[in-house]
Formats: sequence, structure tokens, C-alpha cells
Amino acid sequence: MCHNNAPDRRTFTVLLAAGLGIAALTACTPEEANSTAAATGSPTASASPSATGSPTASASPSAAAAKQPLASPRKAPLPPSSSLPKQHSLTDPRSPWVVVNKHRPLTPLQFVPPDLVQPAVQLATSGESALLNSTTAAAAGKLFAAAAADGVTLTLASGYRSFQSQTATYNGYVATRGRASADTASARPGFSEHQTGWAFDIGDGGGACSFQPCFAEQPAAVWVKANAFKYGFVVRYPWMLHETTGYYYEPWHLRYLGPEAAGDMAKRGIASVEEYFGLEAAPAYR
Ligand code: DAL
Ligand code: ZN
Repeated sequence: MCHNNAPDRRTFTVLLAAGLGIAALTACTPEEANSTAAATGSPTASASPSATGSPTASASPSAAAAKQPLASPRKAPLPPSSSLPKQHSLTDPRSPWVVVNKHRPLTPLQFVPPDLVQPAVQLATSGESALLNSTTAAAAGKLFAAAAADGVTLTLASGYRSFQSQTATYNGYVATRGRASADTASARPGFSEHQTGWAFDIGDGGGACSFQPCFAEQPAAVWVKANAFKYGFVVRYPWMLHETTGYYYEPWHLRYLGPEAAGDMAKRGIASVEEYFGLEAAPAYR
């Protein structure tokens, strides 16, 4: 455990700019991320010596095995999401519970949502990027209106991205930062939630901290972190869970799951969809 030594966001921003973000954070991965990895069977979890069993001087492994009763097959524990009455597919990109990460590409890879629409919200983008699937668009309308009623401005900064535009976005990151650094911030084509129509990035109409770590302290990010679940959204890439989600903190990236799942996650204090749906951590591409 090293919570006390975790870099604060200002330090992290400086480290990130210096290309040291990964080293700083992986040197101090919080227990939460570790326990998630262990619970979900991540390759980082290692068996203890007692679990593997060491041979003794008095009994050969085969003799010891003969004395053991037949082991019953171990059942995987039910994920937290299993408590909800209505279940949805985790693989169909038309499902509000589809989980897309570095281990789980879209199927098909070039999926296009059949019901893309422009939400009735303040736009800070145009073209396909101003579109969302129809369910997410309706929920976004309610989310933005609720924020406005509380005096907080939200803008839609980046919504749907086709396979082709994600290719351009990702290649742009690779060109400026190199592939390893690009993979910590931008999904490869076919691996982005933006391609599902269930996710979008917000701005606050000001733009000073757009897509920067300091956005986390802006009223827009503070408001969505506290309230988005009521409208069915989660902050998909939370602070310090990059070993589970594969990405550093993105306080601007919201994902629609529906109010039941998002509300249940908030109630249980579960921050990653991987943990909520009982899926393995996806820190890197296979
Ligand atoms: N920035 C997120 C991970 C994406 O590119 O989908
Ligand atoms: Zn995003």
C-alpha cells in the first residue's frame, strides 16, 4: 500500500509532460487496482507458494495426490452486476453494458451504431463527432440540463468516432508521442468506446483545461463525478485505475451504462466497469 506516496495531480501532470507518468504511477499502484486485478484473474496476480503446494520429504507428489478427495470444479464468484434484475450483453456493441477495452475489441471491428443522432445539448464539435446513439443522446440531454440547473456548463466535445476517424486520431497520437505513449491515452481503431455511440467527452465551454489533467478540478468534472450516475453515466477511466482500465484518468470521458448499473456502481463504491462486470483487468493489448 502506498496511498500516502501517490503523486498528486499537479505532480502527475508534470511527470506526464516529462514522459514519466507511467513510471510514477506504476511504482505506486493503489491496493484497489491490485485487488481488482487479483479478483479478476489478471496475469499480474501470482499464486502463493502455499497455493501451489511444495512436495514433502515423506510423500511423493503422486502418493499425495492419490490421498486427496476429488476436487470439485471451482465456481467463479458472481460479479456485482449479477444482482440487477435485468441483464445485458457485455459483447454486443448495441448493448448498454458492452465492455470495450484493450482485451475486448468491438465485434465487428468496424461496427457502426444504427441509430446515431445529434443530442440536444451545447456542442463544442461538429460532424460525426457531434453524434451519439439515440439512448445516450436522450440521457445526455437530461444530464446537461441537470448540470445547467445547478449552474454548471457542460459541452459535448467529442462523441461518436467511426473506425476511420479513430484510426486518424490514434495515428495522430502515435506521430507526436510514439506508440507506447499513444496507447496510454488513445484507443487503437476498433478498441474505442467512442465507436459504440455509448461514450463521449465533455468540455466546460471555457476550454483552458480541455483534455488536460487539470480538467478534474473544473466545476464540470466535479459535477459529473458526483451526479452523472443519476442519469446512467460513469466516468469510465477513473483516477489511478489505469492498471485495470488501460488508460490514465480521463475526468472528461463519460460512458452510458443505464441508471440501474451506474447507480449500483455508485452505491457499492465500484469505480471500474471491469470490476463491476467481473472481467479481467486490461492494462495493455495482448
Ligand atoms: N481516449 C479513449 C481511451 C479513447 O480513445 O477511446
Ligand atoms: Zn473519450
